[in-house]
Amino acid sequence: MDKLVIEGGRPLSGSIRIHGAKNAALPIMAASLMCEGQVELRNVPCLLDIDVMLGILSRLGCVAVQQGDTIILDTSGANSSHVPEDLMKQMRSSIFLMGPLLARFGEVCIYQPGGCAIGERKIDLHLRGLAALGAKIEENDHQIWCRATRLIGNDIHLDFPSVGATENIMMAAALAEGTTVITNAAREPEIQDLQRFLNMMGANIIGAGTDTITIQGVASLEPCEYEIIPDRIVAGTALIAAAATRGSITVTHSNPAHLTSLIHVLRRSGVQIGTDNDIISVSSNGRPKAVEKIITSPYPSFPTDLQSQVMVLLSLADGLSLMKETVFEGRLRHVDELVRMGADISVDLNTAFIRGVPRLYGATVEATDLRAGAALVIAGLAAHGKTVVEQIHHIDRGYEHIEQMFGRLGGVMRRENTALKQLDLA
Ligand code: EPZ
Repeated sequence: MDKLVIEGGRPLSGSIRIHGAKNAALPIMAASLMCEGQVELRNVPCLLDIDVMLGILSRLGCVAVQQGDTIILDTSGANSSHVPEDLMKQMRSSIFLMGPLLARFGEVCIYQPGGCAIGERKIDLHLRGLAALGAKIEENDHQIWCRATRLIGNDIHLDFPSVGATENIMMAAALAEGTTVITNAAREPEIQDLQRFLNMMGANIIGAGTDTITIQGVASLEPCEYEIIPDRIVAGTALIAAAATRGSITVTHSNPAHLTSLIHVLRRSGVQIGTDNDIISVSSNGRPKAVEKIITSPYPSFPTDLQSQVMVLLSLADGLSLMKETVFEGRLRHVDELVRMGADISVDLNTAFIRGVPRLYGATVEATDLRAGAALVIAGLAAHGKTVVEQIHHIDRGYEHIEQMFGRLGGVMRRENTALKQLDLA
């Protein structure tokens, strides 16, 4: 397994371009199954999760050609509604295939996605939504079958504004007969991107970005060309790293409107932030200030996907901060690793009490999930001395060559392949 070796203590500086959004590209790639023909997707990030989705689509009979950040996906040959178990286990986002496969083939078989490092991650809202559209669900401890000879529009209220459930229901409803209204829908920018893509294919959807989405079912969808939105979490991660290292950077090809809650928190911590079209600039004014209370919750509130990264900044702040994680029940596992680097954090249930310290110290730490791994990289960049982050395959799921991204900003880090090293082949 690869690891990152980081020499910390240097303020970041410079400018980076933000790549396309993983969490927009994945459902849009799945939605491409809902038409027959060649779909062209631009600004697709080069990530492990994208590779897994491409692997699933090819196992379902699609043909994909990648040219840089453009993917041409020919879905005309799709001939299976059975999501491969080995790939499903690699990526929970395979769940996004349920709506498209049900809409195209009238059935879909997936495997119980299971939990992951950040929580149980149930799919009951997905299944209840698809059942409301007329799908018959059969579950055993291994597989889940959904079948529907016809999908019929319906009014669906989500108990929780689940991003994935909102997206699955939108996709299935796009080819259902009649009208579907989703209330208490998730409002993330990635859902707005999915609506734009589906409407480009000929769907009739309004309301994405609000808590009520209305879908008028249509008879069929057509291939289209589409450009994925920038990745707001990657942009936010870079901005937080600049603040934590007391540096000054600019990110381009981003969308400041998708990061208002983070920008607000960073300003409260004392950094200067400027925005201009697709550019966000951040400049530190020295040691960050503590932020009294941050509570993660669905968009447009503070995103759970930036919780661990901001916790690193607050670990270095002057004073006591409180961070409450309300979206995933298991998303504070990075705390132990940060404490090993000298952070002073205590956890009670889903709340972290962060007493800022003047500095962190390099250590060997382990990434437990994608965003916790990114947080440990930020901690290594800010810490004094050498930090080794292990299990970085988690990070490669959501960041394009993270060592190159921070290298362009003056961060000193290198990727080492532990296996090759052990065989002394490196
Ligand atoms: C999406 O996951 C993102 N992933 C996550 O990003 C993100 O953290 C999450 O939304 C919240 O913003 C992708 O888009 C690929 P949810 P998703 O359904 O759809 C519970 C990253 O780091 N829930 O909004 O799985 C669930 O257990 C990843 O890029 C149910 O109870 O998130 C969780 O506690 C991590 N039943 C909460 O809702 C359901 O049927 C939020 O889940 C579905 C969800």
